Parts: sequence; C-alpha cells; structure tokens
Amino acid sequence: MSEEINRQWTLSSRPSGFPEESDFELREAPIPVPDHGELLIRTEWLTLDPYMRGRMNASKSYTPGVEIGAVMTGESVGVVVESRAEGISGGDYVLSRSGWQEYSTQHVSAVRKLDPAVAPVSTALGVLGMPGLTAYFGTLDVIGPKAGDTFVVSAASGAVGAVVGQIAKLSGCRVIGTAGSDEKIAYIVDDLGFDAGINYKTESVSDRLGELCPDGIDGYFDNVGGVTTDAVLDHLANGARIAICGQISQYNSPATEMGPRNLRSLLVAQARMQGFLVYQFAARHPAALERLTRWVANGTIKYREDVVEGFEKMPRALIGMMHGANFGKLLVKTAG
Ligand SMILES: NC(=O)c1ccc[n+]([C@@H]2O[C@H](COP(=O)([O-])OP(=O)(O)OC[C@H]3O[C@@H](n4cnc5c(N)ncnc54)[C@H](OP(=O)(O)O)[C@@H]3O)[C@@H](O)[C@H]2O)c1
Repeated sequence: MSEEINRQWTLSSRPSGFPEESDFELREAPIPVPDHGELLIRTEWLTLDPYMRGRMNASKSYTPGVEIGAVMTGESVGVVVESRAEGISGGDYVLSRSGWQEYSTQHVSAVRKLDPAVAPVSTALGVLGMPGLTAYFGTLDVIGPKAGDTFVVSAASGAVGAVVGQIAKLSGCRVIGTAGSDEKIAYIVDDLGFDAGINYKTESVSDRLGELCPDGIDGYFDNVGGVTTDAVLDHLANGARIAICGQISQYNSPATEMGPRNLRSLLVAQARMQGFLVYQFAARHPAALERLTRWVANGTIKYREDVVEGFEKMPRALIGMMHGANFGKLLVKTAG
C-alpha cells in the first residue's frame, strides 16, 4: 500500500448481466484529512457481498445505486491512523462504511470499535457482522424454527447460509443445505453438522428433497431464488415458513425471470413467505451480536473465511462470487 495516495475502486459503467472488470476503475486520490470528531482509517479488510451487484444498477432498490464515477459502497475493517475524536485512539480497530478504498475519514459516531481480544477483527464483516446478523434474525425471527422441524437453507456454505444452518441445528431442526459443489456439501455436513446436503449443480433438487423430506419442509431460508426455490415449494409441510433473504440467482438477469406459477403450494400448505432486511432489526443488533459472539467464542458456531489478498483484486473477487467461486465469507485483505 502506498504511503502517499489513497487507491479507490469506482464504478465506471453499469453492467447488463454479469459485471466485468471493465465496469470498475482504479483511481488514486489524496489521503483525506480528518476533521474535528473524525478518524483517519487505513483499511485492512474489505467485504464483498452480493448486494453490491444491486448497487451497480441505476434503479433504486431499498437504497439508491452507486453513481457512475463514485467509490463503490461497502463496509471495511481498518486501523485508526489518526484520531481527532474522544474514545478512539490511533491503533484501534474499527468497522465502518468506508467503501472500496484504502483510506477514509469517518465521524466517530459512524464506526464500531472492535476488540481484537474478543474475536479476529475480520469477523466483524462476517459471522459477527451483517451476514451473521442476517442469519440470526432471518432464522429466529422470520422463520421461527421449532424442535423437530425439517429446515432447508440455500447457498448453505456461504457467509449467511452457514450460520443459518447452525442456528437451525441449535434449535433442534433437521437441516438440509443446498450448495454448488461437492466440497461445499462435504463442509456443511462434515464440519458444520448439517444432516444432509444437495449439490444443485449435479443433482435434481426436487427429487432429493422428496427423498430427504418425506414429511415436507417446515422452514426454508432462501438465499438464491430461481429453480432451487421452485423445487422447495413443491415439498412444503403444512404451516411452512419461508424467509426470503436473497435471490442471488436473479441478480445478474437483465430482466425479471418468471418462474413456474406454483404459489398454489403456499395455499395448500397454508404457508407463509416473508421477505426481510437485516436493517429492520437494527435496534436488536447489539444483543444479537453479544449472543453470536458467545457462540463463536465457545465453538458452538463455526465460520469459514475466503480471503483474497490484494486491494486490486476487488472486482475480480466480486465477479467470482456471482459464479460461486467463494467458499465461505468473501473478504479482501489489503497488502498494508
Ligand atoms: N436480506 C438481507 O438483509 C440480506 C443480508 C445479507 C445477505 N443477503 C443475501 O443473502 C444471500 C447470501 O449472501 P452471502 O453474503 O452469504 O453470500 P455467499 O453465500 O457467501 O456467496 C454467494 C453464493 O451464492 C451462490 N450462488 C451464486 N450464484 C448462484 C445461483 N445462480 N444459484 C444459486 N446459488 C448461487 C454461490 O454459492 P454456490 O457455490 O453454493 O452456488 C456463492 O458462493 C445473498 O442472496 C444476499 O443478497 C440478504
């Protein structure tokens, strides 16, 4: 990392379909100077999350897209280089919404101070951050797992899905995950304790769900949408609860893909399907983080990080995630 300049990844064009590296531009800017009440932060860890694909579009989703020429949006963990604020000193680690850049200034009220003694600071972007909180509230609040339930989660080896399945196991459910490789399936079953897994790229999800869930599916945590979700809807138990967390199979489709009209399955099973955003539970994030931190510290919840070295690899790593190249929470470590 250069001492004099601040490298930034900006959005240079809006993709139609899968993004390409040419949709981003690496720029150099001066290192910003902190004002009163602000911190100068040097980024050490950046997160790459599926929602970033939506921010590359012009259309407004639940928040507006990134402007052409603006720094790509996202959270990072960094070390404080200079503090002009009370309560945080040089050398402290903080979580902030820096965007894709090597340095940023942030008001002290906009950061979360991290304690490296509690957990590795990178976990604030994964299991002890937004993805972990998404898993926590989507599973416990939106679905409400009950002991003995049959519970299915898609993108099961990923940042959100891996935590979902483990929380569902803690709640006494039989848990089945879908993922895109045999290695990912072996991981969720052998390392995380899921009861079974389905490789949606090589197996018929509907046939396998029929075999694995003879009494139907009580809880479904949907990260992917598309054909996987269509297959789940064919196997609902009475009173099934479905959390719509993400639809990654649709994020790179230029037009909304129309699926089979199998909503009759919701009617027959008297099922409930509910979309949610992690931010709607913001008031309860601190308490949930405390609980997740205890679970991680005592080994109840395991996590896996997929670390890409080098700030210059941000676009390539994001594109890779859209093809399932990541195995665990995708992070980029800066060279500094
Ligand atoms: N509602 C909220 O507040 C909220 C918050 C955070 C995340 N999310 C959503 O949660 C989902 C998971 O996010 P994450 O951060 O945990 O990502 P992740 O699972 O760590 O990474 C994304 C994974 O999606 C899978 N995937 C990619 N294309 C796919 C396709 N066409 N069909 C099926 N699977 C595909 C790939 O795994 P495979 O190899 O298994 O295909 C890829 O590794 C995303 O949809 C995201 O948008 C929602």
